[in-house]
Amino acid sequence: MTDDLKEQWEANARVFAELIGDRGTPHHRIILNPCVERLLGDVQGKTLLDAGCGEGYLSRYYAKMGAEVTGVDISAGLLERAEALTNSSLGVSYRSGDICSLDELDDARFDLVLCNLVLLNTPCLDEALSEFRRILRPSGILVFSIVHPAFDFYGPGDWEMGEKDPNTGRRTGLFFRVDRYTEELEYKRYWRTREGEKFPEPFSFYHRTISTYVKAILESGLRIVALEEPLPSEDSEFFDRERRVPFFMVFKAVKE
Ligand SMILES: C[S@@+](CC[C@H](N)C(=O)[O-])C[C@H]1O[C@@H](n2cnc3c(N)ncnc32)[C@H](O)[C@@H]1O
Repeated sequence: MTDDLKEQWEANARVFAELIGDRGTPHHRIILNPCVERLLGDVQGKTLLDAGCGEGYLSRYYAKMGAEVTGVDISAGLLERAEALTNSSLGVSYRSGDICSLDELDDARFDLVLCNLVLLNTPCLDEALSEFRRILRPSGILVFSIVHPAFDFYGPGDWEMGEKDPNTGRRTGLFFRVDRYTEELEYKRYWRTREGEKFPEPFSFYHRTISTYVKAILESGLRIVALEEPLPSEDSEFFDRERRVPFFMVFKAVKE
């Protein structure tokens, strides 16, 4: 992990934490989280690592569901917020750490590893997967999510937008332009909040093809048991584009 990436998250910590709030964005709540929760299965009484926990809303959620949660993140600013937002009665243990090298965590320590929207911002895919396998107990489960690599507007693709709809004031998505899907590159992009506030620093995104993810999981020794492209769980006009073209991709893999 380079200092540059650490600094990106540090500089963007406040705006990121405000964007996520205590429940995630509508994209998280309506599209991603129900799928992740289903793939994790029953967490009651299980040890769960929230790898790249950010401001900890998922750590808190799964602790409330009965898991014994450890949250690891590289950003001191986000960990500070996570600590402040988490009631000590939930027993979540937050630690500073890099998912590329989780030396401080013992082998076979976790039943579940959740890595939500982190690997697409991380250069060390192979190392992280190997660490996840090491800290999972036999039969342990890894669930990780990424922005869908084929329809990823953090890379060279984007939606081609039409005219503004006079009734809703929103522009219609015509189609998604896919280009240079096969080129695995780092892209730097600014995020914006829903109110249009620009994050202070751009984030690095590591575009990889789907087959690269599959190959990396298999080479880590984990067995893929599910690959999902979740759709919005609500039928609202707001998610017209996300119903037509999947926004996220979620993998579930097992340590045999
Ligand atoms: C998009 S956020 C996702 C946060 C959280 N998982 C969620 O779903 O809200 C990515 C998080 O990963 C963390 N992160 C990025 N690279 C990391 C690494 N190599 N090791 C640990 N955390 C990392 C960032 O600091 C940030 O909190």
